[in-house]
Amino acid sequence: MTRVEVSLVVLSLKSLISFLNPHPLPPLTSPMARNSLFALLLFAAVATAAIAAIADDDDILIQQVVPEAEAEAEDHLLNAEHHFASFKSRFGKSYATQEEHDYRFGVFKSNLRRAKLHAKLDPSAVHGVTKFSDLTPSEFRRQYLGLKPLRLPANAKKAPILPTNNLPKNFDWREKGAVTGVKDQGSCGSCWSFSTTGALEGAHFLSTGKLVSLSEQQLVDCDHVCDPEERGSCDSGCNGGLMNNAFEYILQSGGIQREEDYPYTGRDRGSCKFDKSKIAATVSNYSVVSLDEDQIAANLVKNGPLAVGINAAYMQTYMGGVSCPYICGKHLDHGVLLVGYGEAGFAPIRFKEKPYWIIKNSWGESWGDHGYYKICRGRNVCGVDSMVSSVAAINPSNQ
Ligand SMILES: *[C@@H]1O[C@H](CO)[C@@H](O)[C@H](O)[C@H]1NC(C)=O
Repeated sequence: MTRVEVSLVVLSLKSLISFLNPHPLPPLTSPMARNSLFALLLFAAVATAAIAAIADDDDILIQQVVPEAEAEAEDHLLNAEHHFASFKSRFGKSYATQEEHDYRFGVFKSNLRRAKLHAKLDPSAVHGVTKFSDLTPSEFRRQYLGLKPLRLPANAKKAPILPTNNLPKNFDWREKGAVTGVKDQGSCGSCWSFSTTGALEGAHFLSTGKLVSLSEQQLVDCDHVCDPEERGSCDSGCNGGLMNNAFEYILQSGGIQREEDYPYTGRDRGSCKFDKSKIAATVSNYSVVSLDEDQIAANLVKNGPLAVGINAAYMQTYMGGVSCPYICGKHLDHGVLLVGYGEAGFAPIRFKEKPYWIIKNSWGESWGDHGYYKICRGRNVCGVDSMVSSVAAINPSNQ
């Protein structure tokens, strides 16, 4: 149940009580009275069941909206000044003017409250102060996400259905050497390029046995592939893109250079400096994996890390644990890399152990769980199952 529905139940209960209270109950002998008593009992039973159901899974949702005056008191409780001071020193933050400083402190306080709310809505994860705590949610979206809000084209090639009966219970491509270190996109909406290189680095490792870090900057500078079916859906550097378009670009351009030969600057509108003589990896084909979680796992195990889209709503405040929010939007705004899964993640006693996906992010190692995000499996939480692509690489030395 959403919070709106909860308040509706409460509201209708209240209005029923206030409707009944002023009038003493008529004697039960009249048929009308019997009917209304029956209706009341029925309503009470339904309402009790509904509230019990909420209390069972989502009791955390029954909470008060904090008015501004109370918010002040809460900031005091949260010890905001102290946290802001340690935030600034920990992440080396300084602000040009006192005005900017005060503004950022205000944003920081509202992020403290948001982290507290996230902790309630997502109790199996840890939420708190992160390096993004002085950014408003919209600044954060603009600067650190960057997945174009698009559907995949209808004609996208679908991955073949794979057998799912002997899947390992736990699986992690990092242990097999198929994953490079965590990278940092900086304040540039280029997440899509990191998701793309991550998937191709894994595929290249599978086809050649060598792990080579690949160039996101080549994608930021050179890839302007558009989806022919949708207007405005072209990859556009720090302003967003799509992993499938980027696979198409690499396929058409012949390949992608190494990170060290075409290093990341996180800046937009640079000229394309792609040098065909320095191609390090090439796409042979790519496909879209179905929404089925066993198919996602089977494709992951067979083809290497997968490029996935996700709703990043809980990621600005995430510090660790398995993220399994009661409510999370399904619209996708961030591109990341699925590298593995586990059957049961640690969670506080009250919450069952949850199977989870292991997700490599591109916000540096100082974010999240050493740069990684764990999100629970099983019900397409935050849309994590809804845009998944798999890529295969050609071994360039066989060409
Ligand atoms: C690439 O093509 C081969 C042969 O058609 C197919 O078996 C494989 O699943 C494809 N890989 C991807 C990632 O689409």
